[in-house]
This record gives sequence, structure tokens and C-alpha cells, in this order.
Amino acid sequence: MSVHSRPVLAANWKMNLTPAEASSFLDAFLNRYAPRDDRSVILFPSALVFAGVRDRVQPRSDIRLGVQNVSTEEKGAFTGENSAAMAAGAGASFVLVGHSERRHAFGETDVQVAQKCARVVAHGLVPMLCVGETIEQRERGETAEVVLHQLRTGISMLDRAAVRDIMIAYEPVWAIGTGRTATPGDASDVHLVIRAALAGIVGEEARAIPLLYGGSVNAKNAAELLAAPEVEGLLVGGASIDPVQWAEICGR
Ligand code: PGA
Repeated sequence: MSVHSRPVLAANWKMNLTPAEASSFLDAFLNRYAPRDDRSVILFPSALVFAGVRDRVQPRSDIRLGVQNVSTEEKGAFTGENSAAMAAGAGASFVLVGHSERRHAFGETDVQVAQKCARVVAHGLVPMLCVGETIEQRERGETAEVVLHQLRTGISMLDRAAVRDIMIAYEPVWAIGTGRTATPGDASDVHLVIRAALAGIVGEEARAIPLLYGGSVNAKNAAELLAAPEVEGLLVGGASIDPVQWAEICGR
């Protein structure tokens, strides 16, 4: 299925930008960033802002959209939740799954991450599975073990064809929102481990799976991170809600 132009540049707006703010953001961003086919740009607005953003970027087929979370459940009495079917029906192509804020602030378990990936795939959407170690785990030398455990459990309910179609974002927890970015070397080391594990699962086709880095990416460090071996995209939080900075990251 999906062949994505690389780099993949993804904006995780988190719980930022009201409808009015998202509209001003798009005024500024769309003016500054002209369509290009040598990269993929994905926006992950909040669920409440999603439809407005979708209508606004509709003429820009180069910009695709995702949601930040879906329920593990198909439908029913789950007040406050959004389903994968709703995301698909609303025009999303991607879903962030297993973001560290979901894992740590909302107690999402590996099993729930796996269930969400399966739910997302069942509705024809692409999961962007997020993995990453805490600072304590890194200091204990457990980075590879933690990341591979999250990867393997995250995809455990997917068949081989579905695994081939996912995206992975490596986001060290200690680098998210802290201003402390992994070095390009740190990012590459972990990406190589992830790529090797994926190759063990889907063989040659592992190359089709884009590996993104995330954690305090900004317009200044984006280029050197993207130049690092096996870093094929960026998942950007804070810097992605500033339209000037985000246009710079996308346009470089
Ligand atoms: P940050 O967030 O760029 O603000 O560190 C990245 C993310 O959480 O996806």
C-alpha cells in the first residue's frame, strides 16, 4: 500500500491550537509552504479541530492528516472517546499510537497500544507507533531492550502485511518537550536497532517502513537530525505549532 515520500514531517499539535488559532496557523503556514512531492507532511490536530483543518487543507493534497489517539474499542458506551471508524470517516489517514504522553500521563499499557494499532489498521488507517525510553532506562543501558519491547508488543496483533504499512516514531521520553534533543548519533543508533528488528519480522520490506525521530526538534536542529543515517522523518511537537518554524522545517 502506502509509499510515503521521505522525509516524513509530522506535526503533533498535542492539546494546542483552538479552532481560531488553527485557522491563523494555516493562514501563515500554507502561505509559507508550497506543495512539494519529495517529502510527506502530516498534521495531527486535536479531534475537535480536525474537521476545520481538513476543510482548510482540502485543496492541498500534499498535506495529510491524522488524529492523536483513538479508543481500543470499536464503538459504544465509552464517554469522551473517539473511535478509529470516526477518524477514518472524518478523513484521517494516520493515528498516533503509544505516544509517551499517552503511556505515561494516561497509563496506556502495551496491550492497549497493540489493540489500538489493530483497530487503526482494521479501519484502513496507518498507525504511527511511538516508542522510546525514559532517562532512567537509558542510564541503565536498557534503551534497545525497552524500545524493542514496545515495538514488538505494539505490532503483536498485526499481520505481516499490516506491519509493512506502519510508521514508527522513536521519541526518547527525556527529549520530549525538554529542549534536550538526542544527538543525530543517538537517534541513528536506535533507528538501526529498530530497522534490524523490523527486518527480522518482515524481511526486505522493512525498508518501506518510515522511521521518524521525535523529541525537541526545531528549525535549527531538523536538518542535522534528518541527515543522520536511518532517520527518515521527524515528529515535532512544540515547534510544529509555530507556523513559521514549522514551514521552515517542512521546506528545508
Ligand atoms: P516536542 O514533542 O517536539 O515538543 O519535544 C515531540 C512529541 O511529543 O511528539
